[in-house]
Amino acid sequence: MTTTRNGDNGPAPPLAILAELTHRCPLRCPYCANPLELERAAGELDTETWARVLDEAAALGALQVHFSGGEPSVRKDLEALTAHAARAGLYTNLITSGVLVDQARLEALAAAGLDHVQLSIQDSAPGNADRIGGFAGGHERKMAFARWVRAAGLPLTVNAPVHRQNLDRLGDIIDLAASLGARRLEVAHVQYYGWAYRNRAALMPTRAELDRATETVERARARLKGTMAFDYVVPDYYARRPKACMGGWARQFLNVTPTGKVLPCHAAETIPELAFDSVLNRPLAEIWRDSAAFQQFRGTDWMPKPCRSCERREIDWGGCRCQALAITGDAAATDPACALSPHHGALVALAEADSHATTPPFVYRRHGGHAGKEP
Ligand code: SF4
Ligand code: FES
Repeated sequence: MTTTRNGDNGPAPPLAILAELTHRCPLRCPYCANPLELERAAGELDTETWARVLDEAAALGALQVHFSGGEPSVRKDLEALTAHAARAGLYTNLITSGVLVDQARLEALAAAGLDHVQLSIQDSAPGNADRIGGFAGGHERKMAFARWVRAAGLPLTVNAPVHRQNLDRLGDIIDLAASLGARRLEVAHVQYYGWAYRNRAALMPTRAELDRATETVERARARLKGTMAFDYVVPDYYARRPKACMGGWARQFLNVTPTGKVLPCHAAETIPELAFDSVLNRPLAEIWRDSAAFQQFRGTDWMPKPCRSCERREIDWGGCRCQALAITGDAAATDPACALSPHHGALVALAEADSHATTPPFVYRRHGGHAGKEP
């Protein structure tokens, strides 16, 4: 337990709320972070409820809202929610694929108080970008969208998930982001949960490819210093110590799903023993403080050996619970990305085997719950 900004006992407030407005999305990225079972449009929270959630988040002490999805611009009330969040004093960030927003709508969002845009790109080569995202013509639309973002005077971050099917062009991807006027580029090696876990063998780079990518990023970081900032996320499977996933469980973020469930992490629903409260039944502040799912892995009391006595326990907070579950079957185990985990060898062996196998076709998600193979 830490201390709130008001000095009471209890967890410090979240920095940000991730508002997953919808799971609807025109793209079908094979590493999608959304759950395997998507929530339907009919169950989505209405505008009034989202507005209340935003007010509650601001009252709780959150500083930012990330409007996310699925594709958040599918929601016709995105402008209204942006304006509401801005009035509540939240810094507003739109995380989007950019393919559904025209210039007029972007300007309307800017006028509503949007502070920042995060655009995902799949590749620098248009054909491969469209194949990966499963959306013909998507890359061209994204390029136009990025120009409109800059024309509207909004800061742009480009998110570039990388994997064995686009890593060869990492240098071009970096140049593309710079040419679009991005202030920040996130080069994120795919993390293998949910749908990405299913496509692991089609996405996993070899260790040599990872090393080359890291060199490319480091050279570009030096070259573009002062122009474009970099975030670089390496694949856990090749790490020696895990990342502090979500900044530590229930420490900095909360995630509200399209139907109102409140999760400590976007993938938390993969952990079957957790039950989640909903904004429809409980105030957000109470959920943040008391919800069983938030309490389960908050802090260090839950930790097994060797985390419990490890000097990094308040640096990485034991790594990622969802990955621990996916690899060991136990969400409370030490993250196998850690070399001190008894499962680390198995994780590395999995990565080596996947990365050297023949690349299988992508398995794409389809709305309606069925999986489809690459044509
Ligand atoms: Fe982090 Fe636990 Fe590994 Fe220590 S033993 S580095 S706390 S995952
Ligand atoms: Fe859920 Fe890491 S993805 S804790």
